[in-house]
Amino acid sequence: MRRLFVTGGAGFIGSSFIRLALDCAESYEVTNFDALTYAGNLDNLEGLSESRHRFIHADITDRKAVFDAVEEGTHAVINFAAESHVDRSIASADEFLRTNVVGTQVLLDAARERKVGRFVQISTDEVMGSLAEDASEFFTESTPLAPNNPYAASKAAAEHLVRAAHHTYGLDAIITRSGNNYGPRQFPEKFIPLLISNALEDAPVPLYGDGLQVRDWIYVDDHSRALLSLLEGGCSGEVYNIGARNQRRNLDVAKAVLDALGKPHTLIRQVKDRPGHDRRYAIDPSKVEQVTAWRPLETWESGLAKTIEWYVEHVEWRERARSGSYREYFERQYGMRIGQES
Ligand code: NAD
Ligand code: DAU
Repeated sequence: MRRLFVTGGAGFIGSSFIRLALDCAESYEVTNFDALTYAGNLDNLEGLSESRHRFIHADITDRKAVFDAVEEGTHAVINFAAESHVDRSIASADEFLRTNVVGTQVLLDAARERKVGRFVQISTDEVMGSLAEDASEFFTESTPLAPNNPYAASKAAAEHLVRAAHHTYGLDAIITRSGNNYGPRQFPEKFIPLLISNALEDAPVPLYGDGLQVRDWIYVDDHSRALLSLLEGGCSGEVYNIGARNQRRNLDVAKAVLDALGKPHTLIRQVKDRPGHDRRYAIDPSKVEQVTAWRPLETWESGLAKTIEWYVEHVEWRERARSGSYREYFERQYGMRIGQES
């Protein structure tokens, strides 16, 4: 049995990864180490095999807790734990530096000390900044880092620490950069679950600026399956971009969600743009496709239909996620109440 030490496994992508890891042919058992911030949710772990999944409620910046929890002989550390929302980082970067930068270094130290087999850093295409609207330009693994917001800068810093641990101490490490994930269990501050949740309540859906920014969307389980392939098949010291060749303009994403739910486009509200808003992300995934047999299984249409169906069916999950501090965040961020006109 191979032990995986997964951080941030109660979040959106981490919980998808654990579900698939426990399900796949390799015999994995998982220690899931998560601080349960506003984005962490134990509901996301429902139904997981209790014999092969152990949950530890702790913070990756807590050196003692991390060193106590990472066992000698651990096959790999997979670091999903992060503050992940750009708008929150623009309001205040403190938690982003603490978790994304300091926390990553603590994990690297523990991985080295405990002689962990491999360190997988879950990074993001945002570290490479913004592409021009010219459709011929893509992010590759050699695109220079040029982060444009505090979240992206903290993730770029974390990448540098991982690179340094590999170079200086010979730690076996890989870095993966995916584009925008969508799918079940994503916290509804992010664009697609926000669109779905608001539209289901006939509430306005906020679109930043002109809505013509482009993101490269990947279904969350496709991302997780790529990570499982790279965990065993990636080369130490390498960076891998993960994408599904699926560029969409935000305005078109909003319309697609409203159409699928049978709601009018008049629910779209143009609101003040995000400061420093990156214009376009687009990933060239050739490298991961060359070194592994991984290919995305979902099309945009099938992935979006599954996502919408999940949110429609999981009313309680949505209500719980959007209670308490979420309502305050929403008012602060958008100057409007959920379910009311701005
Ligand atoms: P998320 O916000 O849904 O979940 C983050 C998880 O990390 C939560 O469970 C939270 O409780 C936990 N966490 C936060 N701070 C912690 C700390 N100090 N100690 C322990 N646990 C802590 O995030 P996500 O969307 O699932 O993203 C996971 C990772 O993937 C992040 O590193 C993010 O940067 C990266 N990423 C996300 C996307 C995307 O589209 N969502 C795309 C590319 C990369
Ligand atoms: O590209 C990968 C990144 O994707 C990840 O590293 C981040 O963790 C993840 O949050 C995501 O960042 P984005 O900023 O691209 O995602 P978000 O869902 O916040 O926004 C997607 C696009 O939609 C972006 O251009 C901003 C726009 N948007 C977002 C919100 C929340 C709106 O127009 N209105 C909104 O209310």
